[in-house]
Amino acid sequence: MSITALKGFKDILPDEVGLWQLIEATARDIFHRFGFAEIKVPILEKTELFARSIGEATDIVEKEMYSFTDRNGESITMRPEGTAAVLRAFIEHSLHAKLPVQKLYTVGPMFRHERPQKGRLRQFHQLSCEVLGSELPRLDAEVIAMAWLLLNELGISVRLEINSLGCPQCRPRFKETLVQFLADRAGKLCDDCERRRNTNPLRVLDCKSSHCQEQYVAAPSILDHLCPECSGHFAIVKESLSALAIPFRVNSFMVRGLDYYNRTTFELVTDALGAQSAVGAGGRYDGLIEQLGGPPLPGIGFAMGMERLVLLLQQQAGDTSNGPATDLFIAALGEEAQQLAFPLLHGLRRAGLKANMDLEGRSLKSQMKQAGRADAAFTLILGEDEMSRKVAVLRDMSSREQEEIALPTELDPWCQELARRIR
Ligand code: HAM
Repeated sequence: MSITALKGFKDILPDEVGLWQLIEATARDIFHRFGFAEIKVPILEKTELFARSIGEATDIVEKEMYSFTDRNGESITMRPEGTAAVLRAFIEHSLHAKLPVQKLYTVGPMFRHERPQKGRLRQFHQLSCEVLGSELPRLDAEVIAMAWLLLNELGISVRLEINSLGCPQCRPRFKETLVQFLADRAGKLCDDCERRRNTNPLRVLDCKSSHCQEQYVAAPSILDHLCPECSGHFAIVKESLSALAIPFRVNSFMVRGLDYYNRTTFELVTDALGAQSAVGAGGRYDGLIEQLGGPPLPGIGFAMGMERLVLLLQQQAGDTSNGPATDLFIAALGEEAQQLAFPLLHGLRRAGLKANMDLEGRSLKSQMKQAGRADAAFTLILGEDEMSRKVAVLRDMSSREQEEIALPTELDPWCQELARRIR
């Protein structure tokens, strides 16, 4: 039996590499225009670096890190993000002594033991940028503008959401009010929110459960609790974004999954990737350098997920070309199956799918090969056994997952429903 890649770990094959190169080259060009320099940092770091920066009570540190004890008995972690490692290097090499404000970027793989799905992998790649040494709000806008320009030049359209998480002076008051609000709703929240109510109350606000979201409609807003300094800072960030004609929406529920943020946070989101809506995200982390043993310097940055950028570019190419890509290939075996498949094929095409089948009725192996060559996203298998049980097998050609679905009683509604599902 052959050995396959680990779940959530993906090979990038030759026909995809061009897009990766395009994204990286565009990013480097833009980062250099904004005065950023590249830094390369190790993939393995001491576990303590991430625990101290990302936060002990975050999902990443609690349950997603690839950590192990090495041969010397030291706890080591495969980096789940780039910021902590870049800051460690910045401090270790006293880079602040060379320039008052350092603009650094790094490109490379990150590792998180998450549940893999479209746009979410266990090994993924980030373009990660940090500006260290200034707390000027205009700089926040400049960093966001750089991310915005990169997506623009790649032809990817997203929405920008921003928020301010306040500072150690004003956030505790907000936290207290929020904890009280949540205590009043104890027992009415999902298990995750019930747990986070005590461990990491801010995180409840971006819970995905619609039931919890209904509860949080009346939740207190961090923006009403900002101190005058944070409020003034956020006002200038917004003004500066407007001066650059960058549209944004303030989302006071955006709290981010890493603990190191304060003041400005932002996300670049899309509806085109299903559940994985963030193409890029970041924010300010003014106390972090000091917390990691460095000088008391502020910082801000963001990271973009390269797999998500590739998916978006691929989808757009699919939208604009009439290329050979096939949504669904029907593999029908035997005369009875062929007879059913022929009108089904037409019905699926009427329902808007790029559908195809082998009218010659060759062997299953040969038909599956044709589906592969046609670059089909799904195959619908109608074998003799399936026909006798009045089902068909729907196979996702990339994940290789398959499931049985009942054969149509009414052709058109069945085809429309299938088209909705797989598109
Ligand atoms: P993050 O929000 O955890 O932030 O990740 C940034 C981006 O990386 C996400 O928006 C997404 O595009 C991508 N990403 C994250 N997890 C995965 C995954 N499992 N599979 C595929 N893509 C993923 C950070 O990592 C911060 N270090 C960003 C930052 C830099 N903040 C300040 N400086």
